[in-house]
Amino acid sequence: MNDIVRHDGIYLRQLLSGRDFAIGDPVAVQMMNFCYLIGDPATRSAVVVDPAYQVEDLLAALAEDSMTIAGVLVTHHHPDHVGGNFAGYSVEGIARLLEKVDVPVHVNREELRWVARSTGVEESCFVSHADSDRISVGALEIELIHTPGHTPGSQCFLARGRLIAGDTLFLEGCGRTDLPGGDAEAMYDSLTKRLSKVPDDAVLYPGHRYSAAASASMGETRSRNYVLRPATLEQWMASFGA
Ligand SMILES: [Fe+2]
Repeated sequence: MNDIVRHDGIYLRQLLSGRDFAIGDPVAVQMMNFCYLIGDPATRSAVVVDPAYQVEDLLAALAEDSMTIAGVLVTHHHPDHVGGNFAGYSVEGIARLLEKVDVPVHVNREELRWVARSTGVEESCFVSHADSDRISVGALEIELIHTPGHTPGSQCFLARGRLIAGDTLFLEGCGRTDLPGGDAEAMYDSLTKRLSKVPDDAVLYPGHRYSAAASASMGETRSRNYVLRPATLEQWMASFGA
């Protein structure tokens, strides 16, 4: 079952690739990406976080809920999140979505050239953002938190006590820092400082299903996730700075 929240002034739907959309696509099944639909249940407008694999399924999911697409939020440029060439497979994503709908695509400014390269969509087609920018989807305000580390312009989205974290933070572990643009020190700073404003009672929604649970509170995650244990940058680098 995919998770749908429709109360407390927020519409939030969590969709697992290969199960809830792009059903049967072997890459989608293997990668276990989460795509999110998030918006305002009153005005019925929503944005899609990280559209990939089968954008028609995502548009159909919005239509099924009588929601209108108001834009796209990008956590980071990896093709399993935005589309592109992924280990020899061509993954559908933002380029295909923009053929079907004309909506703003919100990208952190440090990630612009990377997203352009992954998707083949020109940089000028994206809306560039800095840390702490906010966008409104109907009456729902979403804060964009720049969290470099997995990639230079990775960003997380905070709205009404929900944190959509992309590949910055999982329930167990965090995103790799050994891929191009990765930075272990920056990841430590993102996890311990930039995300410190997220309260313990906020719910963490990760970019992949790498654990049995699909979401957890930040409090629970802070007490259980081994990547949040190191007390200093030195300890962090010794454990995870590869
Ligand atoms: Fe990634």
